[in-house]
Amino acid sequence: MAQLIGGVATSHIPAIGGAIHKGLQQEAYWKPFFDGFPPIREWLGRAKPDVVVVFYNDHGLNFFLDKMPTFAVGAAAQYENADEGWGIPTLAPYRGDLDLSWHIINSVTAKDFDLVTCQEMQIDHACTLPLKLLWPESVCPVSIVPVCINTVQFPLPSAKRVYALGKAVGEAVKSWNSDKRVAVLGTGGLSHQLDGERAGFINKEFDLQFLDSMVTNPEWATQFSILELVEKTGTQGVELLMWLAMRAALTTSHSAVRLVHSNYHIPISNTATGVLALETLPAPAAAAAALSSAA
Ligand code: DHB
Ligand code: FE
Repeated sequence: MAQLIGGVATSHIPAIGGAIHKGLQQEAYWKPFFDGFPPIREWLGRAKPDVVVVFYNDHGLNFFLDKMPTFAVGAAAQYENADEGWGIPTLAPYRGDLDLSWHIINSVTAKDFDLVTCQEMQIDHACTLPLKLLWPESVCPVSIVPVCINTVQFPLPSAKRVYALGKAVGEAVKSWNSDKRVAVLGTGGLSHQLDGERAGFINKEFDLQFLDSMVTNPEWATQFSILELVEKTGTQGVELLMWLAMRAALTTSHSAVRLVHSNYHIPISNTATGVLALETLPAPAAAAAALSSAA
């Protein structure tokens, strides 16, 4: 069976693409953000995932306001990068994993989720830039399964529903008849608001609580309604639902995780940025961790 090695969650912001393109990683403005990634890249270099399931929100590239699926899963052999008007350099196409795509679609549909399946799908900055931050090499060594969750057009799925989806995806990965190693990635957030009266809104206190919950209490954010999450994190901060899906995917059977690394920095562009990597522990270590936390 496939091995779910762990997960990463990170902010996605178009300006990151420009900074990578111009080589600004060591500039004072960018360094505190980019410095969050080398420890995670080192871990990924050891954990060596073959495929990455990417939870992110499409920003109007595939789905515009006239047709907005709540959950959409890519089932393509290749995904072309385009963006929705930010003018950032596009990256080389990413390889898909058709077998995992259809296995996830079949497993998750059998658990009563209604998905849109996309045999053609373009990917925007929310998918490509986090992958570029984790694998900066010119040809990305992992293939991907994109999973889009609507955080753009109301009504949005509840945090509880997103958590359930993430868990179902994690279970699908674990039941995949393959010797491949799989990671999950969630992109978006943390708190930010790009428009309206609260444009520029950032909530550090909530973000730090949320980051902590990712490690210690994964279901914590599911207590909030979507309107509460928008109030606490901003109209685009609600993208943190992707972190929740990633985290939920890691709560399948042997559920203990180890924090590999996390980083929080305010601001990049309009956004409070965060990154966090969690490694799943093998069964004996997970059992020991559960025993010691119960004691
Ligand atoms: C910004 C953040 C986003 O999540 C996004 O999709 C676009 C822009 C920003 O802070 O500039
Ligand atoms: Fe976004």
